[in-house]
Amino acid sequence: MTSSNNTTYWPKNRYLEVYNRSIDDPEGFWADEARKLDWFKTWDKVLEWKEPFAKWFVGGELNASYLCVDRHAKSERRNKVAYYFEGEPGDTRAITYAQLYREVNKCASALKKLGLTKGDKIGIYLPMIPELPIIMLACARLGVTFTAVFSGFTAQAVADRLNDLEAKILVTADGGWRRGSPFPLKKVADEAMKLAPTVKKQIVVKRTGVDVEMADGRDLWWHDLIKDADDYVAPESLEASHPLYILYTSGTTGKPKGVVHSTGGYMVYANSTYKWVFNVDQNDVFWCTADIGWVTGHTYIVFAPLCAGSTSVMYEGAPNFPDLGRWWDIIEKYGVNVLYTSPTAIRMFRQAGEEWLEKSDLSSLKLLGSVGEPINPDTWLWYYDHVGKGRCPIVDTWWQTETGGILISSAPAIQMPPLKPGSASLPLPGVAPQVVNENGEPVPAGERGLLILKKPYPGMLMTLYKDPERFKEAYWNRFPGNYLTGDYSIQDEDGYFWLLGRADEVIKVAGHRLGTLELENAAISYEAVAEAAAIAKPDEVKGESITIFVILREGYHPSTPEEIASMEGAIKKHIRDTMGPIATPERVFLVKKLPKTRSGKIMRRLLKAVAMEAPLGDATTLEDGASLAEVQAAYEELKGQV
Ligand code: WT7
Repeated sequence: MTSSNNTTYWPKNRYLEVYNRSIDDPEGFWADEARKLDWFKTWDKVLEWKEPFAKWFVGGELNASYLCVDRHAKSERRNKVAYYFEGEPGDTRAITYAQLYREVNKCASALKKLGLTKGDKIGIYLPMIPELPIIMLACARLGVTFTAVFSGFTAQAVADRLNDLEAKILVTADGGWRRGSPFPLKKVADEAMKLAPTVKKQIVVKRTGVDVEMADGRDLWWHDLIKDADDYVAPESLEASHPLYILYTSGTTGKPKGVVHSTGGYMVYANSTYKWVFNVDQNDVFWCTADIGWVTGHTYIVFAPLCAGSTSVMYEGAPNFPDLGRWWDIIEKYGVNVLYTSPTAIRMFRQAGEEWLEKSDLSSLKLLGSVGEPINPDTWLWYYDHVGKGRCPIVDTWWQTETGGILISSAPAIQMPPLKPGSASLPLPGVAPQVVNENGEPVPAGERGLLILKKPYPGMLMTLYKDPERFKEAYWNRFPGNYLTGDYSIQDEDGYFWLLGRADEVIKVAGHRLGTLELENAAISYEAVAEAAAIAKPDEVKGESITIFVILREGYHPSTPEEIASMEGAIKKHIRDTMGPIATPERVFLVKKLPKTRSGKIMRRLLKAVAMEAPLGDATTLEDGASLAEVQAAYEELKGQV
């Protein structure tokens, strides 16, 4: 498919020119990009690459809050809307850059009065309300490194993060709105506080108005703190490698990884990729539907659009509240021009039927984006036809928490390549992906392999928090000098990349990343469970769903169908309570034995075949260490068990 309307909106046709320069002269190229931001002090060196540790813009100093707020509040953009906030119950706020500036300063002052200074760490556990970007920017202003925890996470998940960071403060809310009801966030935050002794204070935003218990001397209302705060706090001049935030994400071990993002490199990369990919005009309204708790929201709701001085929509609630017309309503109401969302959301709307879209005027849309998981061609075409009405190109953006910003995508501001539904298309400037085999050798066009990155770029994570060894182990040791993405990919004859999902033990449910080991640990923490193996199954809407096989401990023998169902239900609930609703398994199978290779590795392919009631498939690609006969026998045995 080719995009037919790339005449005025995509005037430039200079991808190769820009891309080649970025590869031939990366330092010159990124210095030019960095000059588009305001620096308090210019860098001495663009890149210091002590493999695998990259430091960008060494010696340079800047402040992300200054870039996102002060610059605009002091310019003719001061009365431009930064955020159109739409609460789920229908309450709205339009926040201009001048107002954002005031609120960020007040909030920074309040944090300062509580004794927070550069280098401190705090946890943020908030729903999608304006106070979330405000507190992030206030932290950035002071050089306080924050971790934002998705509001759907459990107390244990919050506490693990707070403990890893030795956070001093937790910022939360009395609750938020989801599908018509307030959810009790503060209750969960209180549980987390009990498990996280370093956290001495809790700041609480009043959102839902439900009664909450405020612990004397420990819990402080946000609105009280703001009342006594100063109107201005000077932004700290921070070195480019000062950690802006740490975001935890699942990996192949049981413990989430603390991905550390810098201030300078990250802001440069966020700003450039936002402009290249979304090509947002000063008068455009941009809407990224992600939750700010994920990296997509950090970069493309908070730091990039604000740095660019854009107007964004921020929506608090569920896409189907009060009905499936809500998003399309919002697009019409605010005249959204660019919509950036996930394949899971699109598949859900596709399943619900076009009539929900037809009630609203979607003619403001001119560009559509997709992120988080592979988008299958059927879903792509439905998005193109029914949301974009055949007028709007789709940017399928491939990236990761670790990469800070988009790496592979078409880039309308540079050039719109002919679109191929299902392919993320070409690498952005400065990005050098390659598809290799198990030995690290490039594979021919059209062949599947592991995706690696051959060059550092400014958005790249600096390290894993307090764990540089794991940083090396997870990304660099397999193919020294190259970053292992963990994804399978194909590069076709035209150079387009087709991302095929994870090659490691990571499951993507509705675009959210879950480690099989984390799931297994959660299952095993249930008293009745001795052993567990988690696998992903393809899912029509969520992309993948979770199935868990468990062996029960001695003494647990559910035998009637009711007892078995109740045990399965209890295990599901336990996993949900431990890890959050996203991690709820679709199915739990109680088995007597799990198939393993001779080296003790669980045979996931086999489990998957059983769960899908599918034949074993090509035996040559089965896990090594077992003969075909053994694998067949294990397959039959397991089938007999479930
Ligand atoms: C993994 C990273 C990117 C921010 C949100 C998710 C998968 C992401 C795409 C895409 C195919 C994609 C990959 C990647 N992924 N975008 N456009 N096409 N797959 O960040 O939770 O760190 O997950 O998401 O498997 O490795 P994340």
